[in-house]
Parts: sequence; structure tokens; C-alpha cells
Amino acid sequence: MKTIFSGIQPSGTLTLGNYLGAIKQFVELQNDYNCYFCIVDAHAITVPQDRLKLRENIRSLAAIYLASGLDPEQATLFIQSEVPAHTQLGWIMQTQSYIGELERMTQFKDKSEGKEAVSAALLTYPPLMAADILLYNTDIVPVGNDQKQHIELTRDLAQRFNRKFNDIFTIPEIRVPKVGARIMSLQEPTKKMSKSDLNQKATIYLLDDAKQIEKKIKSAVTDSEGIVRFDPEQKPGISNLLTILACCTDQSIEDLEAKYQGISYGQFKQDTAQAVVRLIEPIQKRYHDMIQSTELDNILDAGAEKASYVANKTLAKAKKAMGLGRVKKKK
Ligand code: TYM
Repeated sequence: MKTIFSGIQPSGTLTLGNYLGAIKQFVELQNDYNCYFCIVDAHAITVPQDRLKLRENIRSLAAIYLASGLDPEQATLFIQSEVPAHTQLGWIMQTQSYIGELERMTQFKDKSEGKEAVSAALLTYPPLMAADILLYNTDIVPVGNDQKQHIELTRDLAQRFNRKFNDIFTIPEIRVPKVGARIMSLQEPTKKMSKSDLNQKATIYLLDDAKQIEKKIKSAVTDSEGIVRFDPEQKPGISNLLTILACCTDQSIEDLEAKYQGISYGQFKQDTAQAVVRLIEPIQKRYHDMIQSTELDNILDAGAEKASYVANKTLAKAKKAMGLGRVKKKK
């Protein structure tokens, strides 16, 4: 059975983009693959975090994984910092990374631009991500479009290591959803919908209530053409809403274009909002049951144990291949 690994940062409330680009795929894939889904808290601290808020976000993300339908019997769910092999192999992968290639990462450029104090860890974020993936002999990494560059680098680093030392790492493939790989901001639809957008109206959060969702979609930026048609260049706002509606209802964009011929943007927006609410409400209900449960802790404990077992084996192979540590003398 092939192996899947993916992770999400607990760096704020999850967005509809995170759900449609990542979690929805995780749920669909979990029965057919050996899956590891991680809460990458060590990645989150590459930018400043409030200690208590971070704790809350970690638990919240675990509850969202479960509420979205991830089944701990099928998939291993765990917290990155509870499996120390991640940061250990992360260091090893840093030794194989060049500063120039790390500086070229668009996420690094975006997050560091205009900032005076940029942590070194923001630059070395991708080798840690490579370690996450490589520890589990991962075949496939399901992610949204914005992670493409990081996965490409992971492949390069793995190949570089294998060539120099020993053929240890599996070279992973990226998997992005056909529709929904890049959900855009509702206010600036040429920009990605993001957890960290300062304009709250631009982002639908997974924990928004029905009223907030309706309001946000109603005020989403569109155009004056008045035709519901998919054209991301000319009509980024309507195309984004069409994508959202298609993902939430599992219909094709073409079918939706045909269905909304001659129908107003007002009605189209109302239907899109309803579809989002219908998708999210049951998740929210389960989320509130999960978040305080001890079951959540048991699942994360078991996940960390299972992940550690596999991760430690790969880490030991990588260390040995590089000559780290020692070979004990026989008596
Ligand atoms: P993060 O936490 O920013 O996002 C989590 C997942 O959500 C996807 N995503 C989106 N998909 C569609 N539209 C959007 N607007 C949107 N915004 C986010 C992301 O592509 C991602 O799949 N570096 C990663 C976390 C990570 C990771 C890993 C992922 C660390 N180690 C190993 C895979 C494998 C990140 O910051 O994702």
C-alpha cells in the first residue's frame, strides 16, 4: 500500500481554502493509502506565536481533522513536536540545502518581505518540511497549489541525499485537487485565501457561523458582466465562487455554468453561501464535541507512538549513511 503524508500549520483558525485544498483530499484518500496527517507546530513557530493561542490552535486543528471525517483507525494523526525525529532529520536536511535555493522560495520571500527581524528558521522551513515527508517513505503528498515549490525542493533534496550517501529516501509525488487547489480571497480574488489575511471579510474560516458566511459571500468582489461564467483571468471573483460551489457540492464547473445561465449574481451568491454552510455545519457540530474530549488525547498519543516508530527507523538509516554517532566496539 502506498504512503501519504501531509501537514497543516496550527497557526490560526483554518480556512475554507485549507479544507478544500487539503483536508477534503485527506478524507477521500484515507481508505486507500497508508496515511499520516500531521499538525506541524514546529513549522508554526518560524514566525512569532502567542504561547497559549498556539496550544489552543494545536488542539483545535486535531479536532478539525477528526470532525472532518479523518478516521484514526485508518490514518495516523499526530503532533510534529511530539515526534523528535522531525527536527532531527530537519537538521540533516539543512546540511543538504543551499542558502540560494531556500532564499528563492516564494513563501520565504512573502513572509520575510519588509520585515526587520526574520528568523533563520523561516529560511530553513523547507528542509524541515522535507524531513516530515521523507521520514515516512512517502509516495504522495496531497496539498494545495501553494506548496508545489516546497515539494519540488523536497524531491531535489531527497535525490541529492540519495546520490551522495545511500539510496534511503523515497522520492515523493505531489497531488493537488483538480478543482480547489487554490481558493482565492473573497475581497482580492487574484490573491490566495489565507489564514493571516488582515481583512476578515476576505476569508471564510471553518468555524464561521452561517450568518458570517452569508455576509462574506454576499460582499465578495465580482464584476459587472452579470454572467456566471468561469474565466479566472477576466472574472477572478465569479470564477472563485464557482470553484467553491463546485467543490462544496461535488458538481462540475461546466454543469454549474449551465445551471446559472440567466440567473443573477445575487441568487448565485446565496446558493454558494448555502452550499458552504451545508458542508461546514456538520463539521462544526462534531468539532465542538471533540475539542474537550479525552478521546482526542488518546488518538494523538497513539498517533505519536506509531509515527515515532516509523520515523526513528528512517532517521537511524540517514544518520548511519552520513557517519553520525558511533559503532560500538564488540567486547
Ligand atoms: P498551510 O498550513 O499553510 O496549509 C495547509 C494546507 O492547505 C492548503 N491551502 C490551500 N489550498 C487551497 N486554497 C487555499 N487558499 C489554500 N491555503 C492553504 C495548503 O496548500 C496546504 O496543503 N508548509 C505547509 C505545511 C507543511 C506540510 C509538510 C505540508 C509542513 N510540512 C509536509 C505537506 C507535507 C503549510 O504551510 O501549509
